[in-house]
Amino acid sequence: TDVSTPIESSKRNAIDSRFVRACLRQQVDRTPVWFLRQAGRYMPEYMAVRRQHSLLDICRTPDVAAEVTITAAERLDVDAAIIFADLLLPFTPMGLDFEFVNGEGPVVHKPIRTREQIEALRTDRAEDLIYVAKAIEKVRRHFAAPRTDGDRLGIIGFIGAPFTLASYMIEGGSSRNYVEMKRLMYGVPSSWSLLMEKLNTVLAEYAAQQVQAGADVIQIFDSWAGALAVNDYRDFVLPHTRDLVQRVKALGVPVIYFGVDTASLLSTMSETGCDVLGLDWRVPLDEGWKLAGDTCGVQGNLDPIALFAPQDLLKQRVKDVLDKAANRPGHIFNLGHGIVPGTPVDNVIAVSKWVKELSAR
Ligand code: CP3
Repeated sequence: TDVSTPIESSKRNAIDSRFVRACLRQQVDRTPVWFLRQAGRYMPEYMAVRRQHSLLDICRTPDVAAEVTITAAERLDVDAAIIFADLLLPFTPMGLDFEFVNGEGPVVHKPIRTREQIEALRTDRAEDLIYVAKAIEKVRRHFAAPRTDGDRLGIIGFIGAPFTLASYMIEGGSSRNYVEMKRLMYGVPSSWSLLMEKLNTVLAEYAAQQVQAGADVIQIFDSWAGALAVNDYRDFVLPHTRDLVQRVKALGVPVIYFGVDTASLLSTMSETGCDVLGLDWRVPLDEGWKLAGDTCGVQGNLDPIALFAPQDLLKQRVKDVLDKAANRPGHIFNLGHGIVPGTPVDNVIAVSKWVKELSAR
């Protein structure tokens, strides 16, 4: 019987997965591929499940979350499965109520605006999030055996970065100008720091649960980091994100750090010590990689809306991304941001196939 701890066993098996090898900048037989939001509303199989369950029901029911995760990975024949969950799930055990309003995204009912509200946030109930770890265990078990090409599919757990989560807590939902978030960040920096530290406490424990359950890699989503000037990122965000990245790396897994509209932030973001930086589509991959630096891999960066283009143009765009990566170890093919509703599924499947053909070493 296996007496090793889950962390040791995930390290031992990591070499079985080309996706994990690429995260560690090791040689691979071809470029691994997966898609941000690969399980989502563009996919009829997801919509069928979604008619039976709310988004939060799917996230909180391990059997259903695992099914949605597995179905998308198999349908697209990708090299990694990202667990179906949402960035905002940790708000509930912290005592902050929210809901998803159809067509509008997340809504926090009593956004955080005061020191007292930050002090009242709880950090001692991360254990309530264990349903995500249970879903990961199921996915990991499903993909335990190597595929026909001998490769084991990688399992990605994820958490939000403290900045992006704080912006949802303070703004109460999606935002254009982040007025309330910046008002607190600039106006009461000690409260801002306390909020970031409390988020990190919960997020580090949540990530540990996911790794314990079999996640090979943790992706940290800092989707709205691009709202910041580089000096503000450095002063108000980098120390906290670096602390979180280091705590997750100490669990023994590679960390992918992702944001959008980050061309001016990439070199500073790589100071977190992440293993891989996500690139959005606005920056040419080779230029983005130069900014990320030699000690970092990159993930990306096809424009998700190119999936609506005719297939000959789409294939050229895939080739452009691969050419700019030049088979350098440490590239993971992905989109620059998530697949949007209405995307033709056949085009996503075609991209998955082309990446494999065009990148074979
Ligand atoms: O395969 C996958 O990647 C799906 C798993 C996943 C979801 N959310 C499920 C979801 C992941 C990785 C997330 C992360 C997430 N959640 C992010 C970071 C990723 C990014 O896009 O930058 C963010 C910012 C959130 C918060 C969030 N959740 C928003 C802003 C929205 C509404 C946006 C929209 O498209 O309507 C959600 C809802 C959500 N989370 C959906 C899914 C599949 C779509 C709504 C639904 O199914 O009802």
